[in-house]
Amino acid sequence: MTHKLALLGFGGVGQGFVQILREKHEQLKELYGCDFEVVSISDLYKGSLHHSEGLNLDKVMETIDQTGKLDDYPEEPGLVRGWSSEETIGRTNAKTIVEMTFTDVKTGQPAISHCQLAFDVGKNVVMTNKGPVALLYNNLADHARRKGVRWLFEGAVMSGTPALRMPLAALVGNEITSIKGILNGTTNYMLTKMEDGGLSYEEALKEAQELGYAEADPTSDVEGYDVMYKVLILAEVVLGIPLQRDEIKRQGISEITLEQISEAKAEGKRWKLLGKIEQNGGQIRASVQPEKLDLSDPLAGVGGATNAITYECDLSGPITLVGAGAGIKETGFAVLIDLIQLERGQI
Ligand code: HSE
Repeated sequence: MTHKLALLGFGGVGQGFVQILREKHEQLKELYGCDFEVVSISDLYKGSLHHSEGLNLDKVMETIDQTGKLDDYPEEPGLVRGWSSEETIGRTNAKTIVEMTFTDVKTGQPAISHCQLAFDVGKNVVMTNKGPVALLYNNLADHARRKGVRWLFEGAVMSGTPALRMPLAALVGNEITSIKGILNGTTNYMLTKMEDGGLSYEEALKEAQELGYAEADPTSDVEGYDVMYKVLILAEVVLGIPLQRDEIKRQGISEITLEQISEAKAEGKRWKLLGKIEQNGGQIRASVQPEKLDLSDPLAGVGGATNAITYECDLSGPITLVGAGAGIKETGFAVLIDLIQLERGQI
């Protein structure tokens, strides 16, 4: 049976996900029995389409590539245009809503409302958006459980690098005593360029923006807010510890100078912006701040926009996961992992 999907938001990640479906549809069916079919796409700026028997993804991408919008998708019997996100959630015959609208971590909207509406009408939600998970995890997880649907969000931390699913599924049985990670690509890229290329802070930030790593407002990256939200998610989802924003000590990299970077290098150390959660005898300490790491630390060797996270575990010892923390294909892949696991009934 097909698993019908409605996509909310059709920017880079949505298009990246559709590209993955076009490339892998047959393989996913053959290997995992997953027959994903997109029946609705709704985007505030690009327009919206719905067909209860499935949209033709080749034609969708052709239309977007030619016009940047969905309006010129060819007319056909049964095609409906113009549904808002809310109408899409309420009227689509999709079983799962893939929420890929923009991330507003201050309010979590419109993604929070989209989740609530979808759960109320008995639909699963898969998303890559940090906002709802960081701000309202317990409430939304409970809402989904009560309605008997699933809510999955692997891409909220480290995009398609399974920073959430690895501890929850593969490290199960361990007690995780601390988590520490490089959770922001923009700042890691900047620190690497300042050390290796001698770039100034401003030059490094400009490059990171040009490469598309930075958030729309880079303050969120350089002042550590992006990492703070990821720390909140890791604390709640992986450790089961609800934290408030003001319980996390936060400092970004805007005060790190080229001199400090050179001094660290001379000492055989390297500055990294770390998100950390430590549990010690019932005491929780969470922080986001630049720290000087010994070069022997696995996180010290992670350069550029790459992310990494170390889980300190009582049985397995420290385990470090290194991989992309952003990117269109990588984040599209995060959606795919969630959908396959949803289809399999696994976490
Ligand atoms: N701006 C973020 C980063 C994107 O640089 O890592 C992924 O959350």
